[in-house]
Order: sequence, then structure tokens, then C-alpha cells
Amino acid sequence: MTDPVLSLTDAELTLSGNAGPVEILHGITLDVTSGETLGLVGPSGSGKSSLLMLMGGLERATGGTVAALGHDLTALDEDALARFRRDNMGVVFQSFHLIPTMTALENVAIPLELAGARDAHERAEAQLVAVGLGHRAGHYPGQLSGGEQQRVALARATAPHPKILLADEPTGNLDAANGAQIMDLLFDLRDRHGATLVMVTHAPELAERCDRVVRLTDGRISA
Ligand SMILES: Nc1ncnc2c1ncn2[C@@H]1O[C@H](COP(=O)(O)OP(=O)(O)OP(=O)(O)O)[C@@H](O)[C@H]1O
Ligand SMILES: [Mg+2]
Repeated sequence: MTDPVLSLTDAELTLSGNAGPVEILHGITLDVTSGETLGLVGPSGSGKSSLLMLMGGLERATGGTVAALGHDLTALDEDALARFRRDNMGVVFQSFHLIPTMTALENVAIPLELAGARDAHERAEAQLVAVGLGHRAGHYPGQLSGGEQQRVALARATAPHPKILLADEPTGNLDAANGAQIMDLLFDLRDRHGATLVMVTHAPELAERCDRVVRLTDGRISA
């Protein structure tokens, strides 16, 4: 038995909105094992992105526990969380969070530089080629299409070979050919580097390749 890479026990997320507290996730208990690929599905507003944020320590659970690689994320302070993410996680958000004043190449190189890689630019360039954007390396996010920005975000998240990759609809804005290329990149991270993948997806062809699919309905696991 290996310990789970991600372990949520009765996790709750309540955010305070203008109209008072909004209960977003309830009683989420879920283990993800090493090298497993988990798909998250469910209707819009069911809490998929919020669950990914909890797993990545980007939102703090308001109840229960969330542990990653044996660390209780609910107990780490902001600095420790940031370090933990830098060393262990890649995250691709639904809105890609690229840095607008940096080129595609610079965006992909950042986490590699933070990880101390000497060949950060070479590796970043290779990763852009892997997502089919070698010819756009010098472009700024504002000069890229939505699908291109998404691929830059994926290149950035995967380049450091994170142990855990959390991706929100990684093929959402892509045509079939580019979507297939991205799926291959993600599964390659698992096959060659043993990464554990958690992906929100509406795409049946991506859900089919997952080891397990969890469905959320109204902030609860329903299947
Ligand atoms: N900061 C916030 N404050 C209050 N409510 C929020 C906040 N962020 C998200 N929500 C609410 O939480 C619920 C879950 O949102 P979430 O983004 O996790 O859904 P989702 O399943 O990812 O949906 P989609 O498929 O549309 O991306 C929604 O009802 C949303 O309106
Ligand atoms: Mg979402």
C-alpha cells in the first residue's frame, strides 16, 4: 500500500460572498493514489474548479483536511504552501494566468528558473515545441489566441515535471488535433515521470483515458 498523493477528508469550502456565506463544497472525501489519473466532471457551477483549488492549496478548506504528499495543506502558512507548490505541483487554471508582460518562452521558463534549472530557456523552448508553439515563443499572451495561451499555460505547468499536475479543462479551447497533442503531453508526464494527474474535463475522449472519474453535483461527490 502506498500512501495517497492527495487525500481529502470531509473537506468543506465556504466562501463569503456579498450576500453572505456561500457553501461551495461539502463533505469531500477522496484519495488519489500515486500515478493515478483522476477526471473531475459535473455541471457548470458544481464545484470542479473549487475542488482543484483546494487540492492545490490555492483555496483553504474551511472544514476537514486536505493533504498532499503527506503534508496537511490546511496547516501550512502561505510561504510554506507556495514552496510546496513550487516543488511539487503544476497547475493549469481555467483562465490561464499567464504574465502579460512576458513572452510565451519567458512564461514557460519561470518555474524552471525558480527550480534552479540552468537550461531553463532550452527546456522551455522544447516544451513550447511539444505543444506545437515553437513558432510563437517570442509572442506575448495578448498576441496569442485563447487556445495558444492555454497551450503555453500547459507547457509552463508540465515543463518542471511536477509530481502532481492539476489541470482545469486542459483541452477546453482546443480543436481535435491540438487536444490530442495536449492529452499525449499530459499522459507522457504520467508515463515517463510518474506524475499524478487530476483534470477537470467535459471532453469524453479525455475522461475515457482517466483511471477514474469523479462526478460533482452541487458541491458533493455524486458518483
Ligand atoms: N469567490 C467566490 N465567492 C462566492 N462564490 C463563488 C466564488 N467562486 C466560485 N463561487 C461559486 O461556487 C460554485 C462552484 O464554482 P466552480 O468554479 O468551482 O464551478 P465549476 O464546476 O468549476 O463550474 P464550470 O464548469 O462552469 O467551470 C459556483 O456556484 C460559483 O458561483
Ligand atoms: Mg470551473
